[in-house]
Amino acid sequence: MPSVPLDFLGDLRRTHNCGDLRAAHAGQRAILMGWVHRRRDLGGVIFIHLRDREGVTQLVFHEDGETAVHQKAEMLAAEYVIAAEGVVKLRTAENINPAIPTGEIEIVVDKLWILNEAKTPPFPMEDNVDVKEDARLKYRYVDLRRPRMQHNIILRSKIAYAVRQSLTEQGFLEIETPYMTRSTPEGARDYLVPSRVAPGSFYALPQSPQIFKQLLMVAGFDKYFQIVRCFRDEDLRADRQPEFTQIDLEMSFPQQETIYQAIEPLIQRIAAVAGYEVKLPLPRLTYQQAMHSYGSDKPDLRLPPFQCVEDLFKGEGLTPEGLPLVAICIPKTGPVSRKERDELKAFGQEKGLRVYDDAKRLERDFPAAMEQVRKRTDAGEDDLLILCGWGSEAKGQRPEETVLQAAGQLRLHAGQKYNDRHKLLDPKDFRFLWVVDFPMFEWDEEESRWNAAHHPFTSVHDEDLEKLTSDPARCRAKSYDVVLNGIELGSGSIRIHRRDVQAQVFAALGLSDEEARHKFGFLLDALEYGAPPHGGIALGLDRLVMLLAGETSIRDVIPFPKTAKGTDLMCEAPSDVPERALRELGISIRKK
Ligand code: AMO
Repeated sequence: MPSVPLDFLGDLRRTHNCGDLRAAHAGQRAILMGWVHRRRDLGGVIFIHLRDREGVTQLVFHEDGETAVHQKAEMLAAEYVIAAEGVVKLRTAENINPAIPTGEIEIVVDKLWILNEAKTPPFPMEDNVDVKEDARLKYRYVDLRRPRMQHNIILRSKIAYAVRQSLTEQGFLEIETPYMTRSTPEGARDYLVPSRVAPGSFYALPQSPQIFKQLLMVAGFDKYFQIVRCFRDEDLRADRQPEFTQIDLEMSFPQQETIYQAIEPLIQRIAAVAGYEVKLPLPRLTYQQAMHSYGSDKPDLRLPPFQCVEDLFKGEGLTPEGLPLVAICIPKTGPVSRKERDELKAFGQEKGLRVYDDAKRLERDFPAAMEQVRKRTDAGEDDLLILCGWGSEAKGQRPEETVLQAAGQLRLHAGQKYNDRHKLLDPKDFRFLWVVDFPMFEWDEEESRWNAAHHPFTSVHDEDLEKLTSDPARCRAKSYDVVLNGIELGSGSIRIHRRDVQAQVFAALGLSDEEARHKFGFLLDALEYGAPPHGGIALGLDRLVMLLAGETSIRDVIPFPKTAKGTDLMCEAPSDVPERALRELGISIRKK
C-alpha cells in the first residue's frame, strides 16, 4: 500500500516541460509534471524544485493559498512523481536564481496530483556528490536521472541523429546486418549463442559487421552505413565495453581519400552538436611519422612532439648503435626537483629506456649537441628536457619501434604529471587527426608469426604487393585510424577485393587454405562473383560521445553498461539458467 494517497493521471496533460517557462510567461497558467528534486519547507510556504529531462522549475505552495494543496505538498519527499498546476509568477529581484534557465519565475500552485511515491533514493541526485560506481550501476535508473547522465545520454541521441543526417545526405544507405552469425575477424574472443535446433553448434555475436558490409558492396549497395552494436569478449578498460556501438560504413570504388572526405564532415557535424568547432581538413600523419614524433600510433597532439637526436650524439654510447635517442620536451614545468626527476627516470627505466634526466649535466658534457637539441625541441629555460635511449635488449621484428613506443609513454607520463602547470591537456581542446599507412603485419612474439595489424581483409599498398611473402615487415597497409587526444576513435582500410590477393595475405599470415575456407569461406566465394574495389571505416560511438561529453569512462555515456568484470549489476547478468534450458541446448556445465 502506498504511504500517501495517490492520484490518477487520467487525461491530465502537461502544458510545458520543466525547462520551458520564462519571464514572458508570467501571468499564464501552466501544468508541469516531473520528480520532486528538492523540497524546502519554510513553515508557511513550501518550495519544490520540480525536475524533468528538460530542466527544473520552482513550485510554491502557500499555506494561506489552497489549504488542501499546501497540506498535500507537506507529504512530498525526494523523487515523488507529481503533477502541479498554477500561475506563473515573476520572482522578486532578490529571489532570482541565475543558475537555472527558469530562475526568473516560479509557479504558485493551486492544484497538485501525487502520481507516485518513491523510496529514499540510494544516493543524492546532485552531480557533485561522490557516489560509488557499484551503487550507481545497481540503481542505474536512479543514476540516469542525475543531470550529468541526462546530459550525456541526450548528447548521445543528438550525435546519433547527426550521424544519420550527415551520412544520409551524403548518399549512404542505412542497412542492418545480423547479430547471430559466424565468428568475425577482429581478433578478440567471441560471445557464443548456443543453437537449440542444432545442439552442439553455436552462433557467434559479431565483433563488427566487417564481413557483411563487404558482402553488401559485392551485392551492389555502394555506400552503406549502420549504427551498430558489436560484441567482443576481451579485457575491459575505461574505454572498452564487451558490447559497444560503432558508426560503421563502407563504400565501393573508393580511394583512401574518398573515405577521409566522407568522415571529415561527419566528425565536424558531430563535434558541432556538442558545441565544438573542428577545422578541416584534419591533419594527417603516416604511421612512421607518428612513431618518430610521438612514439604512438594514437598521438596526443596537445603535447609537443619529441625529436630523434641520435645523429647529434654519434659514437657517444647514449643509445645502442642504430636505435633512436629521443629528446622529450615538456613545456612550462618550471623547476623540477631531484625526487621528481628520479620518478620520471624510474618510469622510463621500467619500460626499458636509459633516461638522461639531468639536462645541465648533458649540457656540460655535450654543449654543441645540446644546443642543437634545444633548437630542435624548442626547449626553453622553463621547460623539462629529457633524453632517452635504449637500455635493454632490443626486442621484436621492429626494435626501433619498441624504443620509440617506450619514449612515447614517458612523454605522456611526464606531460600528465605536470598538466597542472602547463595545462596543455585540456579535455575541451579536440585535436583530431588521421594516422595512415600502418604496417600490414604485426609480429606475434609468443606465437612467432605475423598477425594482421588491422584485419586480414586489408589491402596492401600497390607497390608493396611484391613484398607480401619476401619482406612482410616492410609491407604498408592501405589503412587509416581517426585519433583524438591519444585515443583511437576509429579504424578502417581499403579492402582486398581480389581472391588471388586475399589468398596471398592468408598465406603470409600462415593461414592454410583449409583454415581460411573454414573461417571465411563465404567471403572468399563472394570475391569470385564480381567484388568491386571497396573500403570503409568504423568509428567507436561510445568513445566519441565520451570525449565530447568530457567524460573519462565510456560507462558514463552508455545507459546500461557492464562493470570492468563484464557484469550487469542491475539485472545481475550473466546468470545461471535452469537445468532444463541447458538440456534443450545439449549443454552440460563442467565445474571448474
Ligand atoms: P576496430 O576493431 O578498430 O575496427 O574498431 C573500430 C572502433 O570501434 C571502437 N571499439 C570499441 N569501443 C568500445 N569498446 C570496445 N571493446 C571497442 N573495440 C573497438 C574503437 C575502434 O576504433 N571492422 C573494423 C573497421 C573497418 O575496418 O571498417 C573494426 O571493427 O573506437
